[in-house]
This record gives sequence, C-alpha cells and structure tokens, in this order.
Amino acid sequence: MAANHLPILQFEDKILEIVDQNPVTVIIGETGSGKSTQLSQILHRSGYSNSGIIAVTQPRRVAAVSVSRRVAQELDVRLGDEVGYAIRFEDRTSERTRIKYLTDGVLLRESLSDPELKQYSVIILDEAHERSLNTDILMGLMKRLIKLRASNLKVLITSATLDGEKVSSFFSECPILNVPGKLFPVEILYSSEQPKSYIESSLKKAIDIHVNEPEGDILIFMTGQDDIEKLVSKLEEKIQRLEAGSCMDAVVLPLHGSLPPEMQIRVFNPPPPNCRRFIVATNIAETSLTVDGVVYVIDSGYVKQRQYNPSSGMYSLDVVQISRVQANQRAGRAGRTRPGKCFRLYPLAVYHDNLLEATVPEIQRSSLAGSVLYLKSLDLPDIDILKFDFLDAPSRESLQDALKQLFLIDAIDENGTITDIGKEMSGLPLEPSLARTLIEANKHDCLSQALTVAAMLSVEGTLLPGRSKSMDKTSKNIDKKRKHHSSELPDGAGLGDHIQLLQIYELWDQIDYSIDWCKDNNLQVRGMLFARDVRKQLSQIMHDIAKGSLGVKRQERRRDRQHDYKSLRKSLCAGYASQLAERMMRHNGYRTLGFKSQLVQVHPSSVLQSDDEGMLPDYVVYHELISTSRPFMRNVCKVEMRWATPILQRLEKLNVNKLSGGGVGQSEEITADSNTDFPKEELNTVVPADDSKSRIQAARERFLARKGNK
Ligand code: CDP
Ligand code: MG
Repeated sequence: MAANHLPILQFEDKILEIVDQNPVTVIIGETGSGKSTQLSQILHRSGYSNSGIIAVTQPRRVAAVSVSRRVAQELDVRLGDEVGYAIRFEDRTSERTRIKYLTDGVLLRESLSDPELKQYSVIILDEAHERSLNTDILMGLMKRLIKLRASNLKVLITSATLDGEKVSSFFSECPILNVPGKLFPVEILYSSEQPKSYIESSLKKAIDIHVNEPEGDILIFMTGQDDIEKLVSKLEEKIQRLEAGSCMDAVVLPLHGSLPPEMQIRVFNPPPPNCRRFIVATNIAETSLTVDGVVYVIDSGYVKQRQYNPSSGMYSLDVVQISRVQANQRAGRAGRTRPGKCFRLYPLAVYHDNLLEATVPEIQRSSLAGSVLYLKSLDLPDIDILKFDFLDAPSRESLQDALKQLFLIDAIDENGTITDIGKEMSGLPLEPSLARTLIEANKHDCLSQALTVAAMLSVEGTLLPGRSKSMDKTSKNIDKKRKHHSSELPDGAGLGDHIQLLQIYELWDQIDYSIDWCKDNNLQVRGMLFARDVRKQLSQIMHDIAKGSLGVKRQERRRDRQHDYKSLRKSLCAGYASQLAERMMRHNGYRTLGFKSQLVQVHPSSVLQSDDEGMLPDYVVYHELISTSRPFMRNVCKVEMRWATPILQRLEKLNVNKLSGGGVGQSEEITADSNTDFPKEELNTVVPADDSKSRIQAARERFLARKGNK
C-alpha cells in the first residue's frame, strides 16, 4: 500500500538530519500530512529501531489502534509483530515489535516500572496539539529524560496546530520543522444565525449538499454518540425518501470512540463507486483520524467537553463552543483532495467574537488526583509536584484538591509523602478511588468482588440499559428506559449501583458468560466481555503487587453469603473517602462532605433504595459527581456511619500547606493565615509568567465566566 504522496515524505532527509543532531525536535504539519503513520517508519528505515523500540503516543485509544493497523498494512506485517499497539487493558505487541503505538497513559504507566524508558530509542509524542493531560505530563517528563539519556534517546513532538514556539522554548529552543501540507482552498460559508437545533440544521444542510453539490464526501461534526446516532438515522430516512435516480447513492457512516473496531475501519475503506459518503463524527475526525475523500464539512461549532471544578469536585459534561483553532482544523478537513467547502452553522460574528482563540488544555479542566499520585510515585528527588515543569500549569486550586483527595484515601501522608498504599495504588491502571478500593478489599477478604466492581466500572460506554454515560438532560427519559428494560436484572439489594454491577457479573459468571443472556437483558455484550478481560488482568496485577508487599490473601473462591456486602462496601468507603455524602434531614437530597460541601441528588438511574419511610441511607459514597441539568451523584453505594466518621476526623486534621510542602522543613515556614495558599516560592511556579501564558489564562477565565453565565 503506497503512501508516497504524503507531504512528510518529501522531508525525509531533512527530518533525519535534524533528529540526528538534536535530542528533541518539534514537527508541525497539517493533519493528514503523514505525521502519525510515516514518522515512525522514516526513523525505522534509517535504523533507529535497531537500538530500541520506536514509541508513538496517542491521546486517543482508537487512534492508537487505527494508526498502528494502518502502519502494519503499509509495512505488510501482521499487527502485533513488528508493528503493534498497547492501550489500557489491551497489549498487542510482541518481542518482535519495533514500532509501538501506545496511549500516552500507557507510556506514563510504563515509566513507573522503568523510569528511564530504556526499551525505547525514540519517543514520539504525537497529537500534542490535543493537549491531553497525559501528553502534557509526558512533555515535562521528557525534558528530564533527555538529560539522563542524552546519548541514546530521541524525542519528537508532533502537532497539527500547536504553537511550535512555545514547545520549542519549553525544550530549550529545540528546532521546529514545518511540513507544509498541500491543502486545497476551502470556501467557508457562515449561517446567518445560530441554529435552534444543530442536529436539524446539520440534517438540512447535509441533504442540501447532497442534492445540489457535485460529488465528494460530507463530514459532519456532532458532539457525541447520542447525537451521532440520531443524525445517522434521520439522514438514512431522508435519503431513502429522496426520489430514486434524483441523486447519486449514499451511505451514512458514524465515527466515534466507542464504535466497535470493525465499524471504525469502515470509514477508511475506499467508498463504493458513484456513492457519496456521509461521515457523522465526533471531534475525533478533527485531527486524530483523517478520512480521505471529504470535500464538504458541516461544522456545528460545538464540542462536548468534560470540565472538572476542583472547588465542588464536580464534573460537568457540557456542550461548549469550539475554539477558533478547532474551527479552522475542521474546515481544513474539506480541502484534502480538492477544493472544498465548509459550512459553519453559526455567523461570522460568533466566530470572531465568541470563540476562544485556543482550546483550554485538559490539565486545566481535569481532576488531577491520578496525575499527582503518578508524579509522587515516580519518587524522584528532583520532581516536586508543585515545581513540576508544565507547559501550562494547572491551577493551584486543582493541585490542592488532588492532594486533599490523595490524603483522604491514604495515598499520601500529612506531609505529602507518598505512602506504601499510595505506591501500591500507582501500580494499578485504575483511577485512585478504585485502586484504593482493591487494596482495602484485599485486607477484608473481598478482593474478588472488588475486582469485579472495578472491572465493570472500567467499561467505556453504556453497559446497562438506560444508563447512558452521555448527557441525558431528561431524567424522566432514563426512568422510563430503565423500568422498561432492567426488571430482570438484580437490583443491588437496594444498597446501590456498585452492588448491582457485582450481582450482574456474578449471575453472568454462573451461567457461563452467556452472550444470549446479555442480549436478553440489554447488556452491552462487548462491554461485558471487556469487563471479564479487565477483571482477569486486574486480578493478575493485584497478585503481582501482593507478592511484593501486600501479603497475598488467599483468593477467596467462596461467594459472599451475607446479603449486606459489608466488607465490599467498607472497602468502597475507603476508596471513595473523598467522595462521601450525607443525607439531609428534610429532603432526600445529599450534602457532599469534606472540603467541597454542596447539595446533590442521587442520579435517577440509580438502584439505591429508600426504606419504608421513603428515606435514603444516611451516608453514601459516589463514583462520580456530574452536573447535567442538576448536580447528580452517579453510581452510589450505601455506607455505614461508623465507617464515615474516621474519614471526617481525618478531614479535620487536613492541612493543605503541609500536604503540598513535600518536606517538613518547608511546611514550617508557612505562616498560619495562609491556610489555603501555597508557599510563596512555589506560587511563582504555578502562576503563569510570560505573555502567552497569561493570554491563555485570560481566555480560560473568559471561558469559565461564560460557562457561569449560562
Ligand atoms: O498524523 P497526520 O494527521 O499527519 O496524518 P496520518 O494520520 O499519518 O495520515 C496520513 C494518511 O494516511 C491520510 O491520508 C490518512 O487518510 C491515511 N490513513 C488511513 O488511511 N488509515 C488510517 N488508519 C490512518 C491513516
Ligand atoms: Mg496524526
């Protein structure tokens, strides 16, 4: 399969020359220019893979899989042999692998057991413009690593749109290579006003193009799976109703991260002749996947974004306006094969006045507990979390929030030093709460159950009927769906959703993992199989960790005969210590406890039951706090007051100055009134210093202010 037309290949010699002479190189090239698929091959051809593996990181799992598959095809090797991929819970590499695509998260994890990442001769941080949390942390780490491994490591950072100067100055003015893409002109057309419904507007525009414009595929950006499915079925319906022979044939293809692999590949297969393709995609098609043949782009101007608020501990999954950088990226997708058109479903004034210049990096809108634990567990004398060299620093508030969370689950002690428990936790490819739960469960002889719960919660997408993870603004809707479907499924003994997940899995286990049973009960088959696989892996990891230090508890085969699942719930309570809520007296709402108190509801999809008087349990822990139409706790579990009390006592002891100090000496210098502030000296490192940083900060504040106004 030839790819020799790709722009990046014209720069092969130049790339090799620069890489040869520099430890770090930034490569900027238009999406589709061949960065993800060709750079690794260029370096492989010239022998860099003789002294080690070439690693290419991807922020998205689906990109790691899809790009590695493509490269394996181009090299005519079997996927998993010379070319492979590794994503969380799925490793398709072997001893023969020379080019390895992996998610940024997997590379971070690998660095825990091998801090110098010795097996790699080249590390390519791909798609850096996405500014994923993990890639940002990797950039800081690479800065350190190139000093340690100056003689035998090459780092490349690639991006479609990233401000190259900024990255270059981060890496002591490393060279920037610009690969000019051959992009055809794209005519941009604006709507006169904002659409009332972007699904309807997209539908209308797409049919309009299909009927009136010459051949060429149409790429439509939607915000999420639900919208994609809606639009796909509406499009199919409309196309069917078009008079036969009035226009060319058409196929409609969805493209998003939770699509089964065989469905994802479909968009990369050549289209049938004389047939127009409608590709309805999330912003995955903005930069990480390039679909050839697109001539028309329909851009709603929106993207779904997860945003964490450290003061409330709450996530919101909002549909927000894209940035101008994103809008231009989307438009560019239309000009890959010939001149194209981009239809923006919003007015020019909105583009100029309302859109942010650039997207807020994930590090500034995520919970950092996992990342801070990771940095702490590196246990390097020269890495202090608050002085860590970030391309864009997270806010002080979110770092503090992470430290408090980690303290409450015993991952760090009151001086901010990582504990043995914290070290064990970091060995598990799970978020801190679940990792902590497993370790606690091992102590209470309910590891087997906890493994099941953790595995079930690790499934992406919707496992249970009516429990869509995406935004569902109408809770009524959920109720209906749920009552309709899940009557056959166990109810969690009224104790909550974690218990229900456990019961479902155990039932499935008893009937030999029957696929038909899943189908009969509207359980997502792929998700259930994934959970089974994840459970096996987690079990193995727990055993390996246990051999080291935990002390192996006998793997309990016996099922918990008690119906109150006490040990498991107690373990969950330890894991979710920073996610504890207390019922309010008068109404059935809850107040979250600790340092982020507020009123929240149990999500309507929960199986948590009230007692005879209609009262919900006094205390619950929750997996996630998410704000849609209202703040909801999602996946809750009843816990006992006597388990909650020690956590609350711990909270009283909490002194964030000490936590963040990293050393006893330092913390003593702190004045009493600066209770919520970091020491001055450290403050300087988190406050944006130069111009570009403050511009981004200002943009971020505008963004947050606008969100607040909504
Ligand atoms: O990374 P960058 O956006 O620079 O480009 P790329 O992902 O390396 O894509 C280069 C070319 O390979 C494009 O024309 C893609 O359409 C094609 N490709 C493909 O056909 N199938 C894939 N799974 C990945 C890329
Ligand atoms: Mg790419």
